[in-house]
Amino acid sequence: MVEGISDLVSRPVEEIKGELLHRGKAKELYRTPSDDLLLMEFTDEATAFDGDKKGTIGRKGFYNSHISAAIFRYLGKCGLNTHFVEQMENRYHLVRALEMFELEVVIRNVAAGSLVRRLGLEEGIELSRPILEFSYKDDDLGDPWLNRYHIRTLNLCTEEEVVRIEEDAWRINAMLRDYFAERKLVLVDFKLEFGRSSDGSLVLGDEITPDTCRLWDMESAEKLDKDRFRYDMGGIEDAYQEVYRRVAWEG
Ligand code: TMP
Ligand code: ASP
Repeated sequence: MVEGISDLVSRPVEEIKGELLHRGKAKELYRTPSDDLLLMEFTDEATAFDGDKKGTIGRKGFYNSHISAAIFRYLGKCGLNTHFVEQMENRYHLVRALEMFELEVVIRNVAAGSLVRRLGLEEGIELSRPILEFSYKDDDLGDPWLNRYHIRTLNLCTEEEVVRIEEDAWRINAMLRDYFAERKLVLVDFKLEFGRSSDGSLVLGDEITPDTCRLWDMESAEKLDKDRFRYDMGGIEDAYQEVYRRVAWEG
C-alpha cells in the first residue's frame, strides 16, 4: 500500500480521487493513491427496471451516502466484515477494494415487488418465513434468479463462499430489522452485494439505502424508498430525507 488510511482520510477528496474505474447506475468508483482503497461516489441518478427507467432524485447522493455510512458503521460495530472505511465530504465513501461477485442477494420479510408479481402473493403480507434469493448481476438478462446450482456452474463464487454469504445475509437481516424497527421502519426486503478481499475473506460491499431496501413507515405503511420513483408516486425526495432523518441523525 502506498499510503495509509489516515493519510488518505485527512486529505480533500479532489486530491485522492483518481481514475474512474466504474460508472454504475447510482454510484461511481474511483481509484485512490492506495491500491487497497477506492472512492465510491453516490450520485443523484436513479434507474429502475434494469435501467429502462432513468431519472434523478434531488440530493439522493447526499442522503444515500449518509444513510449507508450509518448502516455500515452499525454493521461493523456488530462484528460484520464490510468494505466501509470512512465517509468523506458527504457524497463519498472510502472503501476497501474487493473482487465483487456477480451476485445480488435479496432477503424478503414481507411480500412486495417482484415476489408479488411472480408468486401472486398479496403485497404487505408478512412472510411465514423470510426468503433469501440470489440473482445474477446482469441487467441485459434482467438480473435472473439463480440457485446454488447455477452459481456453481457459472462459478460466481466458491461453494464455501455461498454458504458464508447466506449466513452473513441472515445475520444482517436480523441486525437490520432491529435497527430499522428502532427507527419505526419496517424492513420489507433488501439487496446485498458481497466480494472477496485481497486476503481472501468475504466482505460486504456496495450500499444499503432506500435504493436497495424497501422501507415502510411502521404506523402508516407509507413507502419510504425507491418504489416512489419506480411507480411515479411523488414525494420521492421527501421519502429519502425522512429515512436520512431517522437513520443518519444519531443525536
Ligand atoms: P424486487 O422485488 O424488485 O426483486 O427487489 C427486491 C429488493 O431488492 C428491493 O428492496 C429492491 C432491491 N433491488 C436492488 O437493490 N437492485 C436491483 O437491481 C433489484 C432488482 C432489486
Ligand atoms: N436498480 C435496478 C435498475 O436500475 C432495479 C431496481 O432497483 O428497480 O434497474
